[in-house]
Amino acid sequence: MITKCLFPAAGYGTRFLPATKAMPKEMLPIVNKPLIQYGVEEAIEAGLRNIGFISGRGKRAIEDHFDISYELEHQIQGTPKEALLSQIRSVIDECIFSYTRQIEMNGLGHAILTGESLIGEEPFAVLLADDFCVHDDGAGVLKQMVALYEKHQCSIVAIEEIPRDQTENYGVVAGKEIDEGIYQIEAMVEKPKPEDAPSNLAIIGRYILTPDIFQIIRDTPPGRGGEVQITDAIATQAKNGKVLAYKFKGNRFDCGRIDGFVQATNYVYENYYSQGGNYPDGQV
Ligand code: G1P
Repeated sequence: MITKCLFPAAGYGTRFLPATKAMPKEMLPIVNKPLIQYGVEEAIEAGLRNIGFISGRGKRAIEDHFDISYELEHQIQGTPKEALLSQIRSVIDECIFSYTRQIEMNGLGHAILTGESLIGEEPFAVLLADDFCVHDDGAGVLKQMVALYEKHQCSIVAIEEIPRDQTENYGVVAGKEIDEGIYQIEAMVEKPKPEDAPSNLAIIGRYILTPDIFQIIRDTPPGRGGEVQITDAIATQAKNGKVLAYKFKGNRFDCGRIDGFVQATNYVYENYYSQGGNYPDGQV
């Protein structure tokens, strides 16, 4: 059973400067909730209540967010504003939070390896909060992936089709479609040029990984950008065994970029907030 979810959150967020000069990019709000909270709620929905953050310098606001604020709560106690904190309070009550620091930025593979001490010898999920995923009904992406893991018991990456000219922004996979929208991975390349890309199926920031990945990462030499890439490590895992790529149901906004961030904001505002609710409805 999977109970743990890692959140790499040590990156600088330079695309959002100056907003991210003194504030973690994970705390940027989509309407009234920080990106990272949407991610944690998605993990909870999938049954993952053991939340591990790969943190870094300047990221303390994340720890404070997932903790009680006695002074604030005392101030608004008994007022209608109290209700605004109820969602984050239930998140705090339901989860166990652990933190470890990534001292140097050396790629997503390195970040995930930094989380080894929070995970141990069990399968786990990884969620990149920048990739904000929504679904109008049914289950969130991680919940869909956990169900798939229960059937196949192997590492799984979430994918979506992208225009060919955007392959340089993503890890790209190719493989044999073994069921509708489910591929057994045969090739995997980090940020290839369109002419070198094995397909137009891009990895988005949701992974389920089996714990053998840690040793594989240790054995993986630096790749694209001179950094240790999780894509390269998973490619090795796929070569030696079974790894699946899963075309998830739902929509994803790239909130690591201004455009995607604004689109996500509009989506949540129009479909939820302006109707008197929060995304996701009725959860947590
Ligand atoms: C990372 C991964 C990449 C993946 C992407 C999804 O890249 O290295 O394979 O496609 O996340 O968002 P980053 O966006 O951190 O450069």
